[in-house]
Amino acid sequence: MNTRLKVALTALGASAALFAGTVGDDFLLNTRNTTLALRKEGGRWHVLHYGSRVDSQQDINALAWNLWTGGHGHGQRRPASYAVYGEKTLTIGINKYGGLQVTHADGCPTTSLEGMKAETLDDASGATHLVLTMKDRVYPFHVTQHFRALADCDVIETWVELRNGEDGAVRLGRMDSFAMDFPAMSDTLWLQNAGGQWAAEAQLQENAIGRGQTLSFGSRSGVRDAFENNASFMLTAGCRSTETSGQVLGGVLCWSGSWGIGVQRDFCDFVSVRAGVDTSAGAYVLDPGKTIVLPKFAFTWSSAGKGQISRNIHRWARRWQMPAGSKLRPVLLNSWEGSYFSFTEKVLHDMMDGVKEMGGELFVLDDGWFGTGKYARDDVHRDKVGLGDWVINPEKLPNGLVGLNEEARRRGLKFGFWVEPEMVNTNSWLYEAHPDWIVRERRRPVNVGRGGSQTVLDYTNPAVRENIFAQLDALYSKIPGLSYIKWDANADFFNMGSPYLDEAHQANMPFDYTVGLYDLLARIRAKYPDIDIQACSSGGGHADYGFLRYADEFWGSDDSDARERIFIQWGESQFYPACAIAAHVTAVPNHQTGRTTPLKFRFDVAMSARLGFELHPKELSADDLAFAKQCVSDYKRIRPVVQQGDLYRLVSPYGHSYASLMYVDESRDHAVVFLWGMVRGNWSDYPGPLALQGLDASKRYRVREINRRKGGNLHCRVDGKTLGGQALLSMGLPVRLRGDWDSAVFELTAE
Ligand code: DGJ
Repeated sequence: MNTRLKVALTALGASAALFAGTVGDDFLLNTRNTTLALRKEGGRWHVLHYGSRVDSQQDINALAWNLWTGGHGHGQRRPASYAVYGEKTLTIGINKYGGLQVTHADGCPTTSLEGMKAETLDDASGATHLVLTMKDRVYPFHVTQHFRALADCDVIETWVELRNGEDGAVRLGRMDSFAMDFPAMSDTLWLQNAGGQWAAEAQLQENAIGRGQTLSFGSRSGVRDAFENNASFMLTAGCRSTETSGQVLGGVLCWSGSWGIGVQRDFCDFVSVRAGVDTSAGAYVLDPGKTIVLPKFAFTWSSAGKGQISRNIHRWARRWQMPAGSKLRPVLLNSWEGSYFSFTEKVLHDMMDGVKEMGGELFVLDDGWFGTGKYARDDVHRDKVGLGDWVINPEKLPNGLVGLNEEARRRGLKFGFWVEPEMVNTNSWLYEAHPDWIVRERRRPVNVGRGGSQTVLDYTNPAVRENIFAQLDALYSKIPGLSYIKWDANADFFNMGSPYLDEAHQANMPFDYTVGLYDLLARIRAKYPDIDIQACSSGGGHADYGFLRYADEFWGSDDSDARERIFIQWGESQFYPACAIAAHVTAVPNHQTGRTTPLKFRFDVAMSARLGFELHPKELSADDLAFAKQCVSDYKRIRPVVQQGDLYRLVSPYGHSYASLMYVDESRDHAVVFLWGMVRGNWSDYPGPLALQGLDASKRYRVREINRRKGGNLHCRVDGKTLGGQALLSMGLPVRLRGDWDSAVFELTAE
């Protein structure tokens, strides 16, 4: 065994180029606070350690798992960097759980990999990029595993490329991006994930994984991929973690198609984690000579609980993953809940006046502006017609989108609008001309979704993508300064096939569809880099980091009730930064739940993410308008802290009748604390002092309650006072809530 250990110090920008070229058999991949240690043994790369940082190669070698550790039961599997189906284990036959299953051209269903080469690539961005090249020991089937360590956020990105060098096609029964084994991580394991549904996204749950058990979860569909579950998880090893304590592995799959994630714990506490695209439509057929690149998986480690996992991933998202993660997001008004399909130009102009008066910056026209003739998406036909025909309905909007843009600009607002480019109604000119452009099985009748006519376009077909690109391009290019696009997607895969792909490749449709979607998004982003894109899919169905490679934010949920949003945004905040979560103040009674909450409560919740409106401002009273104006102006001041700061979740809404979180900017000079009371008993669950986090103990902060209504309660008895960070961190902020739906926002400014 080659015991030479190369250490890639990515911390603090140490250059990867220092180590560019082939490295030894053993490798330490360090970020600021974590280490992934790999060793080549028996021709395979194994994981010696992933967790808190360890710099000593000798210590890692000495303490690493081996056959001696734990005695008899161990050694069933080797802790592989990329576990595959079919490799021989020491005592239990073949490894059944591996994340890659290949049926080779001659029908052999197993794979046994051998490591060929480990090298680091120059990475201009300052990341360390380790590449492990592997090959089946018998077949010319090649696997390249990438690791990209990002020191500043303690995140490692990994992905895999598969190349078929065989004579015939191979079938990929499983094709995970991440299939890593962790030896003897712990004798207690807890898996937290965010599950959900339409209008109830990202509900958190945490379950223990027992010995011999596998816990797995996945997406509902290959389109609304974040419904049912979000492609992210936190795995706690040892005592149950909290926001501030515990050993936690956090991971997120960057994919907008069907996916699955699983954690297996065997009887020897050997833990295998898999994450990747789902192949339940059948094995992917990879033709000879072809390479497939599997989606990226990003992971991080914290020995200080879940809060740090979120902060690491948020930082990674803003700095490394999202197209413009550091850009401040505008305050906008979206027309949907204010008018649905029933609007005229006058209604929209009035909305513009209203949002301008409140201090908003952008007006967004939602669904209902397009389609012509019998397929016009008017107030009568609503969602039954028109998708696919991206041309203005001149009866509804005689001056078109161009005219609306001019009206917005005249008022000093920016303009954006809604599209649903992945879908087509069977009632549309596009479908009439191209009935073979939708995903469908060849011989089955077409299943339809929303409006009794909605289907998904076949994005595996380049001609379909070209058509949609050309239609969108024709619209975008005519609107000077167009600044925002809401990209909606309101269907699942109701049909599972592609008229474009041949019979042998039908099962490739779900994967190739998502690749096609990214191809289209990349073209749009490249041509219109300054347009903000909102990923929407019936609410949060597109809340994933595959889409957020091209989009700037996602619509948090179609449930805009502020109480529901506390839970939904809490769940989304586990992996997504506030700048990416769109949260709108809407009218009461709330359109989804029928609940009535005070305007202040609705503002206090929406202001903890990317603030916007979805109502007709003319329905607000003069007092409400004045209050809204004040809130928007405060939001603009605290926006850099909320959208770009570090998040600390203080009190969870799960198990309490109130909740609280705070953001702190990087300099730790400016912080904002949100406190929301829900339906509360008079004397129960009384908020204790809010133990603040993230402040600088050596600084003094002036505490000021903002968003107060005229004559409204004060919620903190030290309002207006200047206090030491040390005391605020240790004694907490004394706060008070009265009655139901009482809430408060505090701004802390270092003096
Ligand atoms: C679903 C979205 O989530 C809503 O916000 C709205 O845009 C509708 N679609 C429009 O059809």
